[in-house]
Amino acid sequence: MHHFQYRDNHLFCEGVPVSEIAENVGTPFYLYSHATLRRHFIAFQKAFEGVPHLICFSAKSNSNLAVLRLFAGLGGGLDIVSGGELFRGTQAGIRPERIVYSGVGKRVDEIDYAIQTGILMFNVESFQELDLINGCGARLKKKARIALRVNPDVDPRTHPYISTGLKKNKFGLGMESAAEAYKAATGLSNVEVIGISCHIGSQVTEVAPFVSALHRIRELITVLEALGISISYLDIGGGLGITYDQESPPHPNEYAKAILDALGDSSFTLILEPGRVIAGNAGILVSKVLYTKEGEDRDFVIVDAAMNDLVRPSLYNAYHAIKPVVRDQKETISVDVVGPVCETADFFARNRDIPRVEAGDLLAFMSAGAYGFTMSSNYNSRPRVPEVMVHQDQFHVVRRRESYEDLIKGESIPPFL
Ligand code: LLP
Repeated sequence: MHHFQYRDNHLFCEGVPVSEIAENVGTPFYLYSHATLRRHFIAFQKAFEGVPHLICFSAKSNSNLAVLRLFAGLGGGLDIVSGGELFRGTQAGIRPERIVYSGVGKRVDEIDYAIQTGILMFNVESFQELDLINGCGARLKKKARIALRVNPDVDPRTHPYISTGLKKNKFGLGMESAAEAYKAATGLSNVEVIGISCHIGSQVTEVAPFVSALHRIRELITVLEALGISISYLDIGGGLGITYDQESPPHPNEYAKAILDALGDSSFTLILEPGRVIAGNAGILVSKVLYTKEGEDRDFVIVDAAMNDLVRPSLYNAYHAIKPVVRDQKETISVDVVGPVCETADFFARNRDIPRVEAGDLLAFMSAGAYGFTMSSNYNSRPRVPEVMVHQDQFHVVRRRESYEDLIKGESIPPFL
């Protein structure tokens, strides 16, 4: 359930008409509902309330400071993959001992920063990284807490670009090498082994792949116990899918039940890294129709947002529902909804039936709260759009629109030119 609903044919975010925000901040803009973010986070937390757990929201899905602050206030941690995300998390008030750090390519400066900040643990993805973290710990005279990220080789049955737990993917250590890596880790003096982690993929719409992954992890834990290696944290990553179109993913309660059943009796603290399931349907991208154009093959609706603002349709052929901000048309048209960027891949929808629109009308691209703004860019020298958060009947600009000056910030022309 989300708080983007029509009242008298006007789309509202909580108590604020979306068109009113558009008048104030201009278009395009991202719009987040505070109540929806909160509700989704709490639903997830509640689902696991019977067991020790930590919800580390996945910063890559939405890393706006206001969003992270909201979760910090609800006791949330953070799943990060870069020094930049660590910076954002701590700036937003997330406690370092609630931060876990995954990623196949952590740099020395990022590792140092995370050790010095005192994060809960690194999810280590290779032997070389293990040695590097140990070396950083030795130099900083600190012990780095670690989990090894295991690649369980299960098929999450999602888009291939967002599958991560198959042997052919770059992530984690294979089951056999993981046991070896654990043995190696226990021999290192500046790392402390505290956990095991995995993440099989994103937009997973059934529980079975999570359960298969957990079974494999449990097998490995049994092997580790026989070796005298004990684990306190079990991080099962994120990945639970949402409804964009017709999907019917499990509710967090169903997901939690399947996971807890698969775990049986255990004394681990569970770590969850949800991103999309919390933020996805808590945000929309609002855009204005610039032109309508009748082509020889098909008709186009040209809007002021583009692939640089929301890349998911271009990159994954992803579906985002398109709704009029003012619902006053009965007639539908079948069109390609496209942006101004100079690429044929710059589309939001192809051959989509939408209500008839004309220049000046506002459209909402739904389910854009996760991997929307965070994946946006300045391609075509387009300033990045503002992010706005509604709280009840007030809206707050939580990131201002970039200016042309912002576009060239940090650039310089060398004197020889
Ligand atoms: N943990 C790790 C280690 C991850 O790599 C990810 C996502 C998550 C947690 C959060 O997954 P979620 O709960 O959001 O599914 N840009 C793509 C999604 C990429 C996901 C990458 N990893 C998209 O727009 O669909």
